[in-house]
Amino acid sequence: MNFEMARLDNIDEMLKIEKKSFASHWNRQTFLDEFSADNGHYVVAKESSRIVGYSGFRYVLDEGHITTLAVHPKFRKKGVGTKIIERLIADAKEKGLKKLFLEVRQSNSPAQKIYKRWGFKVIDRRREYYQHPVEDALVMQNDNF
Ligand SMILES: CC(C)(COP(=O)(O)OP(=O)(O)OC[C@H]1O[C@@H](n2cnc3c(N)ncnc32)[C@H](O)[C@@H]1OP(=O)(O)O)[C@@H](O)C(=O)NCCC(=O)NCCS
Repeated sequence: MNFEMARLDNIDEMLKIEKKSFASHWNRQTFLDEFSADNGHYVVAKESSRIVGYSGFRYVLDEGHITTLAVHPKFRKKGVGTKIIERLIADAKEKGLKKLFLEVRQSNSPAQKIYKRWGFKVIDRRREYYQHPVEDALVMQNDNF
């Protein structure tokens, strides 16, 4: 598996994974906005030139906010998500960030397992943060990487 910075011509492939991954998913415009933001950092993971997953963060000063993480259903449970977050943390470190935050559905134990593995801790809960279905978000933070 190799990593590349996400590019505009990756969006079609990313949208297919996005739709399979989230009930309330990003649309093309959201990807365009995220990729064109000067404080955005998005990576795609590729296997034999096919995109198998992606993630990214926005950052302000020394704090980053992981905004998404998705792995193609056919490539799940093979460690791809774990490797993507490892890579993202390395990128955050290289940029001089000191803290990373994210929100995750309280029922999403696969994602939480990955984040905890890489040092994220639950610091807060946002009531009914998600729709479809309505669910609380756990806010997680990593300030030790
Ligand atoms: C969450 C997600 C990114 C995980 O990707 P992945 O590549 O399958 O993750 P990994 O293979 O690195 O697995 C991480 C751990 O979770 C476990 N796991 C993954 N999917 C699981 C599932 N459906 N049920 C139970 N455990 C699961 C794995 O076994 C692994 O644990 P282990 O290392 O102890 O065996 C992927 O399921 C996904 O894209 N989900 C939909 C989008 C989403 O929820 N994104 C997160 C938003 S915060």
